[in-house]
Formats: sequence, C-alpha cells, structure tokens
Amino acid sequence: MHRLDPATKSRADVRRMFDAIAPRYDLLNRVLSVGSDARWRCRAVERALAGFSAQRPADVLDVCCGTADLALAFGRDERTRSVTGVDLSRSMVRIGRDKTAAERPRLAVADATRLPVRDAAFDVASVAFGLRNLVEPERGIAELARVVRPGGRVAVPKAERERACSAGTSRTCSRVSAAG
Ligand SMILES: C[S@@+](CC[C@H](N)C(=O)[O-])C[C@H]1O[C@@H](n2cnc3c(N)ncnc32)[C@H](O)[C@@H]1O
Repeated sequence: MHRLDPATKSRADVRRMFDAIAPRYDLLNRVLSVGSDARWRCRAVERALAGFSAQRPADVLDVCCGTADLALAFGRDERTRSVTGVDLSRSMVRIGRDKTAAERPRLAVADATRLPVRDAAFDVASVAFGLRNLVEPERGIAELARVVRPGGRVAVPKAERERACSAGTSRTCSRVSAAG
C-alpha cells in the first residue's frame, strides 16, 4: 500500500489514495488481517455498545468508515437506533452503499475534521484505523468529542488510543474507550 508523507500530505492526497485503493480495500483487509478483521469488529461493537440496550439504544457515528463494515456491524446490533458512517473518499462510500441495501447505516461523504453534524448528536462516535490518516488528527479527535452527548462514548481501537489520548483534550480522553 502506498504511504503518504505525514509531514506533507494533503486532504486531496489522502482522498486520492483511498479512492484508488477502494476497489481492493476489503480484500486487502481480509488478507492483511488474516481474516481476523470480522472478529475484531464484533469485539469493537460489544465494547462500544456496552451499557446500551434495545430499550435504551444508541445513535452511532462511525467516522473514516471506509467501506462501512464497522457501520454495518453496528447497524445489525439491536442496541443501535441509528447508525451513520462518513468518509472522505467517495469511492469507499460508494462501495459501502452497495453493501447496504436498506437505509441502515446511512453513509455520507464528509471530512472527519469538519463534521457537518450538530454538537452532542450521538451516543457513540467511533473511528477505526482512521486517525493515522487524518491531516489534522487533533482536530478529528476534538470533533469526535464534540458530537458525542454527555455520558456518551468515543470508541477508538487500542492501537490508536494512545494517539487519541495524547492528542486529545482531557475532556476527550476521559471518554475514550478501547474499541477492540
Ligand atoms: C484505513 S481506512 C479505515 C476504514 C475503516 N474504518 C475500516 O476499519 O476498515 C481509513 C479511512 O479513513 C478515510 N479518511 C482519511 N482521511 C479522512 C478525513 N479527513 N475524513 C474522513 N475520512 C477520512 C479514508 O478515506 C479511509 O476510508
């Protein structure tokens, strides 16, 4: 996979790179994770939705959603009321939409560092393997914290959690939970 220089990459570079990778992304993911990605997503959903129930379901936002596999996994869980996935790459979103016959999850093209979402709109905001690709990771983390309701959860994989905590404000950190 082509790597961009973190010091000089632009949003357009990142978008171009993922537009180019999109048709092969799912296959690459399966092969590189030796098929463990599905198990990882199950665990991530379990942790992110702990404390919610069918009677008290969560509104979930998955940013940098890629081809929507995590958003789909959230959508299949009865503890979610609504699931929205956003990604910068049109091609990733298009492939995600092809997998989602129904309206769940709702997918949109949007920048994780400028979410077109009002404050405190979601119970859970997740990001999986996306922070490392952001041109402004701190801003992305602040956005996750902004869109989560008081008492809600920002769910980040263990591998990216340190980055989230070191870049985030203490307000953000207190709500970051490991999502897998
Ligand atoms: C490694 S993929 C991860 C996709 C998915 N979360 C997964 O776990 O398979 C990173 C994703 O982040 C997206 N991305 C990068 N910069 C972004 C930004 N500023 N806003 C939204 N999405 C972005 C890319 O288009 C790509 O789909």
